[in-house]
Amino acid sequence: MQDWSPDSWQNFKIAQQARYTDQKLLTDVLAELSLLPPLVSPIEIDDLKQKIAAAAKGEAFVLQGGDCAELFSDCNAEVISTKLKILLQMSLVLIHGLDKPVVKIGRMAGQYAKPRSAETESINGISLPCYRGDLINSPEFNEKSRTADPKRLLKGYSFASLTLNFIRTLVENNFTDFSDTKNWDLDFVSHSPLADEYHEIMSQIQHSIKLLDNLTNHHSNSSIRDKIYTCHEALHLQYEQALTRQSDNGEWYNLSTHLPWIGMRTAQVNSAHMEYMRGIKNPVGLKVSANTSADQLLRVCDILDPENEPGRLVLITRMGAHSIEQTLPPLIEAIQSQSRTPLWCSDPMHGNTSVTQQGIKTRRFDAIIDELTAAFSIHKKMNSHLGGVHFELTGEHVTECVGGARGLTEIDLHRAYKSLVDPRLNADQSLEMAMRIVKVNQLLEGDRSSNIGSQKLNNPNFKIE
Ligand code: PEP
Ligand code: CO
Repeated sequence: MQDWSPDSWQNFKIAQQARYTDQKLLTDVLAELSLLPPLVSPIEIDDLKQKIAAAAKGEAFVLQGGDCAELFSDCNAEVISTKLKILLQMSLVLIHGLDKPVVKIGRMAGQYAKPRSAETESINGISLPCYRGDLINSPEFNEKSRTADPKRLLKGYSFASLTLNFIRTLVENNFTDFSDTKNWDLDFVSHSPLADEYHEIMSQIQHSIKLLDNLTNHHSNSSIRDKIYTCHEALHLQYEQALTRQSDNGEWYNLSTHLPWIGMRTAQVNSAHMEYMRGIKNPVGLKVSANTSADQLLRVCDILDPENEPGRLVLITRMGAHSIEQTLPPLIEAIQSQSRTPLWCSDPMHGNTSVTQQGIKTRRFDAIIDELTAAFSIHKKMNSHLGGVHFELTGEHVTECVGGARGLTEIDLHRAYKSLVDPRLNADQSLEMAMRIVKVNQLLEGDRSSNIGSQKLNNPNFKIE
């Protein structure tokens, strides 16, 4: 890679960084981090790249999901396994309904740094630095907590590694085995209005596995061990740099995660984040918003993926249900005009955040569905392909997004709102989302010869039952 090194980003303008007062401590911490072992391996990363390439061609489907902001305090067996359970349940519904492999990527084991829209937060006339995620400071509203603490970088590394270790242990012990899904039956979901539909899917899959076992005279149990990949926003570049390592083949990899992405607030053409991301060998994600112009998108693609390498680039669109019809098509057209083959992924969460009259950040389930539906339909209409989805979700019984089969309202938001940053789908809503994705696709697939399906889907009054 020409003129690139893991620290060349330092010559570029950078946004959204913490200000550390103790520079000596920061330098020491970064030196220590750079000597610690990597969290993931180049082989796993290359493997994911191939799977992303397959999804870009429509041969697989990517499910990316997890917290907006992972918390250090959530690094425990219950929270981690619950999050895995919901990802696995969703993937089961998708595998069954879309009839293709599902690549599972958790926003986990390192999603600790957050971009913020304001530098400071003011309460009762007191102004303090905003909370930037557990990797940087802590959410309590006092000066000590909000001061950026370099030692948190080491903690973040440790919690990421503990989380990954637990995920690997679960996978090794057949937690992901589809023939034994009772491992990941969520108690909450068994009382859900969707429970019957989900259990029917589950038993059909188990029946198929048994049939295969009987046909091949082989017990597939241990062979259905599936991989879980990780992703996080590569926001804190000093941290990312310290975990960027050269592999035996001379290539540089970010070994803190499989799939780093750059968020909307740092994805400018000549930014430090763009410079850092262009040199690493990982697949890289790029958030694309309603404000991204076709020209800007193509310039960014040239920087991040000059060779149009299969599986390298994931374009995560987060347009907003109200604007996707106008803003997504020109971007697809631009990508097609250059015969580029990124994986298109829809993040229907970040363009659909609203604030209630009580000042609570929420997202309406219907708006999320509307953006997703439109994304699938637009891609299909344009002969493009939407090969993945990106959600903020949790397996816990939270009440942060309104709507869904249980009909959560704004009043429910007071009951179990835990997220410190963006509102997440709870387990029920997540599972319903997976079922809706299947239904949207079946509807679009069932209507190959004309665009009646997409006309229906484009009608704001049309709902898929
Ligand atoms: C996020 O994914 O949590 C996020 C901040 O997204 P965006 O950069 O798209 O706003
Ligand atoms: Co978010």
